[in-house]
Amino acid sequence: MKKREFLKYLGRTSLAASIVPLTVNGQNGYSDASPYPYVDSDEFWERIRKDYRLKPDYVNLENGYYCITPTPILNKLWEHTQKVNYEGSYYMRTVQWENKERVTEKLATFVGCDSETLVITRNATESLDLIIGGFPWQEGDEAIFAYQDYGAMRDHFYLIRDRYGVVCKEVSVPNHPKSDEEIVALYESQITPRTKLLMVCHMINITGHILPVRKICDMAHKYGVEVMVDGAHTIGHIDVNISDLNCDYYGSSLHKWLSAPLGVGLLHVAKRNISKVWPLLAEHGKESHDILRLNHTGTNPVQIYLAINEAIDYLQLIGIQRKEERLRYLQRYWSNQLRNVPNVVVNTPVEEHRSCGIANVGIVHMKPKDLAETLLEEFKVWTVAIDESDVIGCRITPNIYTTIKELDVFVNAMKTLAKRT
Ligand SMILES: Cc1ncc(COP(=O)(O)O)c(C=O)c1O
Repeated sequence: MKKREFLKYLGRTSLAASIVPLTVNGQNGYSDASPYPYVDSDEFWERIRKDYRLKPDYVNLENGYYCITPTPILNKLWEHTQKVNYEGSYYMRTVQWENKERVTEKLATFVGCDSETLVITRNATESLDLIIGGFPWQEGDEAIFAYQDYGAMRDHFYLIRDRYGVVCKEVSVPNHPKSDEEIVALYESQITPRTKLLMVCHMINITGHILPVRKICDMAHKYGVEVMVDGAHTIGHIDVNISDLNCDYYGSSLHKWLSAPLGVGLLHVAKRNISKVWPLLAEHGKESHDILRLNHTGTNPVQIYLAINEAIDYLQLIGIQRKEERLRYLQRYWSNQLRNVPNVVVNTPVEEHRSCGIANVGIVHMKPKDLAETLLEEFKVWTVAIDESDVIGCRITPNIYTTIKELDVFVNAMKTLAKRT
């Protein structure tokens, strides 16, 4: 988006007053030369940083768990909470459902799918486990997934193994693949005539590795195998169009990179599959092809759904491509400086398109747990240790509020620790 269009856009939206970068108003000299201007403009991102209330005790490089919500969205959440609380059951019995439907439609447009194939859930766990648990399994059916997949989903596959006699086949995704074809072939090698469902991470949470999901889906469909994509880390992080992926199921958490308040996710189910999935909780009176059949929730904090609306507005003020490029820029800023340092191991692929904001780095003579503790205690840098599935290091996740100065603190800390024996 050109600067003029960007300013016009800011002017039209209700959140504009709270996040408009004041210096963008015609006098800042930002260049429109790059495809996504402002990506390396500290001034622009420092303005965005002001929308966050950050604890000063540490540099937070652990946004992979969830991304804290910027204040303008939190303020809107508080308005929604007050309204729902003021109206009580009148709200619940009148506009609750149409409001959720409106937000679902906006979300569907944002993620590129038909709103009739999308529901808002509590998180990626609910979305993906609903499919794993509700799939019409028969004894001897096979499922494929990876050691690097998220533990809760793998555990749910083990449950259905024990419950229905499903065979679980696990692959190990290399941290540094030679090509997309190598990864596709890895999954393909496990397919048999009994394979029913393949789960694949869009972005592996422990390394930030982005997998060639479209190619995996196309390959699996040739064998009649359905694909469920774990997109917990992609919505609001990279530019995702779910329809383009040609997958059967897609689950994500919106409190991660969309920065919606805690407790919201999404589930996409391709139309052709809706009627075959068993719901987690029974819904009354819905047709078998209606995705709302899978979305019974009971009474729950409905105000959070409303704030998804503002979370999308906020992100669109910045632009998803600009945010993606900024997150990639931040990751490359620190990882490029560390890749060739003796004793440092970066566990994330080097090719730009295979990662974005998340990456993983270790030090050969330090256990990840000790590295994370030392980073916090000595250098006031908050990360998370990963020591599993061929990934030994700390996961580093900056966010759009992260400054270059903060990353310099981290890079210097790592260089210091790499020299210690
Ligand atoms: C790859 C992946 N899948 C699923 C989840 C579950 O997300 P949530 O706890 O928001 O349900 C996570 C959480 O970090 C994750 O990293």
